[in-house]
Amino acid sequence: MDLALNNGTAVIDRELYKANLGIKDGKIAEISGEILKADREIDCAGKIILPGIIDEHVHFRVPGGEHKEDWKTASLAAIAGGVCTVIDMPNTNPALTTCALLEERQKIVEKDALVNFKFHFGATSDNFQELENAQEIASIKVFMGSSTGNLLVEDSKALEKIFEIAKSRNITVSVHCEDEELMRQNLEKFKRANHARFHNKIRDNEVEWKSIKKALAIQEKVGNKLHFMHVSTKEGLRFIESAKENGLKVTCEVTPHHLFLTDKDTESLGNFGKMNPPLRSGADLDALWTAIAKGTIDCIGTDHAPHTIEEKNQEYQKAPSGVPGIETMLPLLLNARSKGMISIEKIAAMCSENPARIFGLEGKGKIQLGFDADFTIVDLKGRTEIRNENLQTKCKWSPFNGLKLKGIVEKTIINGKVVFDFGGSL
Ligand code: DOR
Ligand code: ZN
Repeated sequence: MDLALNNGTAVIDRELYKANLGIKDGKIAEISGEILKADREIDCAGKIILPGIIDEHVHFRVPGGEHKEDWKTASLAAIAGGVCTVIDMPNTNPALTTCALLEERQKIVEKDALVNFKFHFGATSDNFQELENAQEIASIKVFMGSSTGNLLVEDSKALEKIFEIAKSRNITVSVHCEDEELMRQNLEKFKRANHARFHNKIRDNEVEWKSIKKALAIQEKVGNKLHFMHVSTKEGLRFIESAKENGLKVTCEVTPHHLFLTDKDTESLGNFGKMNPPLRSGADLDALWTAIAKGTIDCIGTDHAPHTIEEKNQEYQKAPSGVPGIETMLPLLLNARSKGMISIEKIAAMCSENPARIFGLEGKGKIQLGFDADFTIVDLKGRTEIRNENLQTKCKWSPFNGLKLKGIVEKTIINGKVVFDFGGSL
């Protein structure tokens, strides 16, 4: 055995068990009641072992946005946050919309990545052939409303075609839902908006739910797998819940910022609280937590979208949308657990098992014999404080700066190798 994790408590089959884990050649080779011998033995007494965390929604910015983030800094941020696997978004420059660019991206990322990775492949109104041919992708990403970058598909016919291609390939469509036309009308009304507090008025709840409704209507017709990214409104959630009740192949994600911040925080955060979709009301936040408790939200993904402090310090309309989050997601969730808001088993399901299933990440998402030896070891009693200067992300800021948390990432293990150790040596 190469590595043994002894005396820990592991999430196995969605439950907590005292178990000793043996790792050989990067795979889980033994799950035992007996203490295991190995070349390296780690005592995990008092610690929880989660299946390696998967962040199914990151913007690591390469190529074209290297001044905001690159795969070296992003990887360090990921492992410090306990994240073993990421799925990167296509709104780069150039956007990831052709097979040639996919091949190129694979090669660039391979050199710097310290985490496992896959890509969401971008859809345009006319790259259907590329969508047919792109290999090894996690999903097809559709921006139904414009955000950072120039990806946008508004036309219903084009959307239907994209959904059909996904269906024929048994691939998920991941969708960013904001209604472009309504957004434009609202922007006209708030032409002189000069503070991020207007963001939730321009991209209001209806902007999101109208677009969700449109996507659901097409999904119902075509029958493909559809994953809603960053659901943020109580109304949008209701549409998704009823689609699920009707047995449609629909799943959804929420982000940590929509779970832990509201539009009230925009007053102090300004553009550092500007993202798409925007921060919402307390009632929306409550609806998201209720849906987590009910089990109708499948994944928590960060939407890690770094922008530089200089870019954010521009006036509201010029400042780009997006916040970093990969380093702070799990600590925030562990802190929420300490307050009884979510269980550790549910964190494992929403941040590992479900994303692995939805995006077809074979051998990931569970602590099971033969699966990849990706683990996130956490100490529920440890305490930490989020501080901008300690962050690994290149942008060096967080909307959660100064927050004190209970629960820390102790170790991150990827393919059987310890790549992050909070207190010890690698
Ligand atoms: O706020 C956001 N930022 N939302 C997105 O959809 C894109 C992201 C980014 O890439 O900056
Ligand atoms: Zn995003």
